[in-house]
Amino acid sequence: MPRLAQLYFKTAIIFLIIGLMMGLHMAISQDHAATPAHAHTNLLGWVTMAIFGTYHALNPLKAERRLSLLQYYVYTSGVGVLVPSLYLMTTGHPEIEPIVAAASVVAFVGVLMFAVVIFTSAQAVGQQRVAPLR
Ligand code: HEM
Repeated sequence: MPRLAQLYFKTAIIFLIIGLMMGLHMAISQDHAATPAHAHTNLLGWVTMAIFGTYHALNPLKAERRLSLLQYYVYTSGVGVLVPSLYLMTTGHPEIEPIVAAASVVAFVGVLMFAVVIFTSAQAVGQQRVAPLR
């Protein structure tokens, strides 16, 4: 499996662990205020990253692109800031909303970059290959 696919799965499982910890904490404490943070951690972190990782596992040539690695860093940093800031915002710190907004935009840019990775033809990808990441 390409290194980038493994990187995505390693990152995804960390977000799932964090997301489930939030879910368990909400269930045990009977305080569901952090539901948006829990849902976004699981869906943008675990589910979406696992899908990105699967795509790269199925398209190893694209996983070797510099753009693909850059996309990983942009998307992961967006979600990585979104999760804690959304958690804080929904648990009594509304003043942190601008950070939530900025992180959301960064995550969205990461998704747009993934769209470019998807829509770029395999031939064009082959011409832009960098050193193998495996
Ligand atoms: C240990 C596992 C989990 C626990 C204990 C848990 C717990 C919870 C709790 C307590 C809520 C709030 C419900 C409410 O206030 O209405 C919630 C909402 C939610 N959870 Fe989880 N959850 C778990 C796993 C997951 C996973 C794996 C996903 C997605 C992949 C997920 C997605 C969501 C979503 C989307 C909501 C919002 C639902 C809504 O607002 O209607 N959860 N969860």
